[in-house]
Amino acid sequence: MTSLTLPLKKKFIVLIGFMGAGKTSLGRSLSKKLNLPHIDTDYEIEKIKKMRINNIFEFYGESYFRDLEQDTIINIISKNKAAIISLGGGSFLNFKIREFIKKKCLSIWISVDIDTAYERINNSKNIRPIFSKMKSKNELEILLNKRNLIYKEANIKIEAKKLNKSRLLEKVLFKINKYLENSNENC
Ligand code: S3P
Repeated sequence: MTSLTLPLKKKFIVLIGFMGAGKTSLGRSLSKKLNLPHIDTDYEIEKIKKMRINNIFEFYGESYFRDLEQDTIINIISKNKAAIISLGGGSFLNFKIREFIKKKCLSIWISVDIDTAYERINNSKNIRPIFSKMKSKNELEILLNKRNLIYKEANIKIEAKKLNKSRLLEKVLFKINKYLENSNENC
């Protein structure tokens, strides 16, 4: 088991990034490797509403989803002791969520290029309402570039491009260790 001593106040590793970056899949492997529970916030929202995310968007609208997303994420971090958390692609854009995460969690931005994101989103069974209403890849790229300006506020950035699952996991563990060695966050 890879040893990792998270700072006392920060017992959560939060994975952020664009749709199709692989946050859920990486979250599962990190959770196994570090022996911490994995929480996928979109999945938690679906359990609360007993509805798929695309249906929540369709029946209640995006702003209802965003409020629910905010409450769910803040609740998860407040009620748990330690976890690997995979966020939805829009969560970190919310100021309140972002500031909460900055205080309590180690954040990792899984960065993805437009071609990879587009291909994964297009080929996925998971319907992304934000993408469904778009007319072109260019529109997706504009959103990606805009969001990257916020995602970069995360503590650690990982370029996911061309890495298979195990290489990505290795790289993440290496970067977390390096970040912790160099940071003063020892509470
Ligand atoms: C969204 C991304 C989705 C989901 C919702 C909104 C977004 O999560 O939270 O459809 O605004 O980018 P994934 O990043 O897991 O696709």
